[in-house]
Amino acid sequence: MTFATAASLLASRSSAFVAQSGLTKSASRSMSAFARSMVAKAEDGQAEVVLVGCGAPNRGMGWYHGLQMVEQKCPSASLDYVVEPWFMGPGGEGPGGDDFKQCQAEWESTYGVQFATSLNDLPPPKAPRLALISGRTADNPRLLSEAIKSGSKCIYLEKPGAPTVAELQAMKEEAAAAGVEVLMGYNKNVCKYVSKTRDYAASVPGSHVTFVSNNAYENTAESLGECFERNAEGMLKNMAIHELALLVSFYDVTVENIESVTADKEFSSMQTLAGPSGKEWTDFDKIKFTIKTKNGNEVSVQADRCGGTDSYATVTKDDEEIFRYYMPDEDDKKLVEELTAKYPTAMPYFFTQDPDYITVKERVAKHTVDGQPAEGIATIDVAVETLRVAEYLTPILQEQLK
Ligand SMILES: NC(=O)c1ccc[n+]([C@@H]2O[C@H](COP(=O)([O-])OP(=O)(O)OC[C@H]3O[C@@H](n4cnc5c(N)ncnc54)[C@H](O)[C@@H]3O)[C@@H](O)[C@H]2O)c1
Repeated sequence: MTFATAASLLASRSSAFVAQSGLTKSASRSMSAFARSMVAKAEDGQAEVVLVGCGAPNRGMGWYHGLQMVEQKCPSASLDYVVEPWFMGPGGEGPGGDDFKQCQAEWESTYGVQFATSLNDLPPPKAPRLALISGRTADNPRLLSEAIKSGSKCIYLEKPGAPTVAELQAMKEEAAAAGVEVLMGYNKNVCKYVSKTRDYAASVPGSHVTFVSNNAYENTAESLGECFERNAEGMLKNMAIHELALLVSFYDVTVENIESVTADKEFSSMQTLAGPSGKEWTDFDKIKFTIKTKNGNEVSVQADRCGGTDSYATVTKDDEEIFRYYMPDEDDKKLVEELTAKYPTAMPYFFTQDPDYITVKERVAKHTVDGQPAEGIATIDVAVETLRVAEYLTPILQEQLK
């Protein structure tokens, strides 16, 4: 392709998309010099990804998403922009600030990624824009509004999406009114252990599935108190939210369709512990429960803050376990070892879920470009119902465990 053809293709694609995204001419005329200096990077067939909330290297979920994109693991996603309000602002001189600066310099020089402190500073899209929002949950309502205003065609929203059902519902309505689609980073929806377990259970009539999720916190009042305070939304909205999304996506679980929920009192444990601030928090450090739906489904979830690093699922028949599948499985353990050796200080869950993060991003980016269905990806409707279920279950389970 000659430069002229490429330029005219870019111009036509750009103007068509600007018109579609509703950005006015005056808005693009009033673009800052900073925005005008930014250049397009996404190629034909790629979404122009804006990563919102990169976070600190080795710590932030956003950083890992960015890494997978600059390493070209997702062919339909071009990481064109990173928006990082904290580490390029007030947090720049604090913990993680230097690591972030180093990462920024490398991604700018090696991969041509452009950095900004706000979505409001970006120029209009030159290709179908996908905003991947991986900020702090409390900031998401504002970030989603800004992503819509900056011309995003689609938004990839990290779980759980918002602190409350009311906020997430309002975000859903705002996006729908603007004609912008919102898909969720519920990666366990596309995970191998989940599909293998569901397939096996489907072949055994009368069997029962339990999804198990573990964290590796130390089992001390200090460690759990810190965990309770940092994840103050509680275990169901924070840790077990992935499993609740599975129940909503695959087992028809909705607040209206729940017939009963029963805590396993022997397994479960609820504690009131002081966090680092001195304030006390009541939460589950372990929870196991079974939900029956009005249309005859039955499924269990088990989550343990101090259970280790594995997630897995089991199938039982007549109370006997007949199947178990781990994440990672034997095939993926090699990849986990390789990634751990390459990034020894990074969060371990990046590596066990590495293939699933790639799958979700690629499907969402491809969908942003060609509009074909993003198979298995949770929508914001699923996310709203998932949060509703979490808010509904928490007081019921707390009551049962008193
Ligand atoms: N899908 C998954 O498996 C998975 C795993 C972990 C996190 N997440 C989700 O990803 C999102 C980001 O999580 P994270 O753990 O990377 O969050 P994080 O708090 O480490 O970083 C998110 C953003 O918060 C800002 N920030 C960081 N420290 C700050 C501070 N001290 N004060 C103010 N702002 C600060 C930064 O802008 C950063 O980009 C959340 O929605 C989380 O639920 C998903």
